Amino acid sequence: MKGCRGSSGTMSEPRPEPLTPPPRMDAFVINGGQRLRGSVRIHGSKNAALPLMAAALLTDEPLMLRDVPDLADIRNMKKLLATLGCQIKDPPQANGDCELQVTDRDRCLAHYDLVRTMRAGICVLGPLLGRRGGARVSMPGGCAIGDRPVDLHLRGLRSLGANIHLDEGYIVAEAPGGRLCGTHVFLGGPNGSTVLGTANIMSAAVLAEGRTIIESAACEPEIEDLQTLLNSMGAQVRGGGSPVITIDGVNRLGGATHDVIPDRIEAGTFICAAAITNGDVTLENFPTRSLTAALDRFHEAGVQIDSTAQTNNRLRETVRAAADRVLRPIHVVTQPHPGFPTDLQAQIMALLCLADGNSIITEKIFPDRFLHVAELMRMGASLIRSGPSVMVAGTRELTGAPVMASDLRASAGLVLAGLAARGQTIVNRVYHLDRGYERMEDALRGLGADIQRVDERDL
Ligand code: EPZ
Repeated sequence: MKGCRGSSGTMSEPRPEPLTPPPRMDAFVINGGQRLRGSVRIHGSKNAALPLMAAALLTDEPLMLRDVPDLADIRNMKKLLATLGCQIKDPPQANGDCELQVTDRDRCLAHYDLVRTMRAGICVLGPLLGRRGGARVSMPGGCAIGDRPVDLHLRGLRSLGANIHLDEGYIVAEAPGGRLCGTHVFLGGPNGSTVLGTANIMSAAVLAEGRTIIESAACEPEIEDLQTLLNSMGAQVRGGGSPVITIDGVNRLGGATHDVIPDRIEAGTFICAAAITNGDVTLENFPTRSLTAALDRFHEAGVQIDSTAQTNNRLRETVRAAADRVLRPIHVVTQPHPGFPTDLQAQIMALLCLADGNSIITEKIFPDRFLHVAELMRMGASLIRSGPSVMVAGTRELTGAPVMASDLRASAGLVLAGLAARGQTIVNRVYHLDRGYERMEDALRGLGADIQRVDERDL
């Protein structure tokens, strides 16, 4: 950990700039009942971009990422990387281009102030350890959707030879002799594998001595995208997207240019928006291949989703989503990829509130991720929760109400309900939504929704 300032002992580093504050406390005012029609382009994926950005720490050469969404979490990740010696260029007109380059390799402290509200800050741990031999990274803590432990991240890094201890809320990690050693790493946990944990171990292992085999790796498309980037930087990774990933360590990595994959959760959310308003929406840059389980459920419920052109690129298609009648009730179980994503559970629940019969939704990744249930009930939804499952009794209509949920996807579910509800819905604290959807109200308004962003103080 020689020369790695801030990784041990006291925190002598200056405090980072404060987090991007919500510029004001915004709310959405939605007058429901408009059928959505038109076309929308899906942005690059937030959850893919965050570990890709952290991979800039693995090289001194520039890393150019394209189609990086403009979101609060991304801005906070830029701030965090800047405190770790990364220079960031993202000219305002650059349409999602973001160039990152390390200019100071001595900084290894990921401060609590930056990691506490952006859990993905933990993504810097693997790259710092792999490239700089040490790190002091704040423990991220829980969040509104559950406890969210990082034991699997730490177990994986310890398997690679890292010495790790906790100190005043910080993870202090060191690679003996400055380099990790390849080995077998098992990442299975009580609810499946871990997405960011897999990203961390992959990113740490690319510069380790010898071969690492990750078993029970997360299979999410964001991991496959990280593999693609790391390989174009000169790494030797294979198996990403499957439960077994093999990494042959190399001595150095170089720069690269990479297009971030489209956001499968934003894509699924817009399918729900089309369906819940009996609309007809064309979605460009649509990642069909990453949404197989969700598309299966949408079809089963009666949403029509068709590709508009013959294409071999099922990662970036144009599809048309339409629903012109009451949907059928279905059974949804969230699971690790390729199962139905937990990040779409709240949105499909909003949709099923208006189906013709009883649906059951079971949450197997974050069993307490149900902040939207009580709020949907305030809008007239008929929901009965029992442990990790919710019975959704379809009702003929939802009615507008003031609502709030302190979680990104729960808030998206409430916006969807508001689009279909009779009367006015006010979704408060939309800064949660702004963490994962780029100007969602503009996109919805472009499709014909009656939705305005207002300052909560003006209500
Ligand atoms: C990622 O979080 C996503 N975040 C989440 O999206 C997503 O909900 C989640 O994966 C599951 O798909 C980002 O990519 C930035 P996990 P991550 O580690 O990686 C347990 C959104 O709305 N677990 O795969 O932190 C854990 O409690 C966000 O965009 C351990 O037990 O999630 C959970 O039950 C929210 N020990 C399961 O594994 C660990 O060390 C999956 O969590 C780590 C996780």
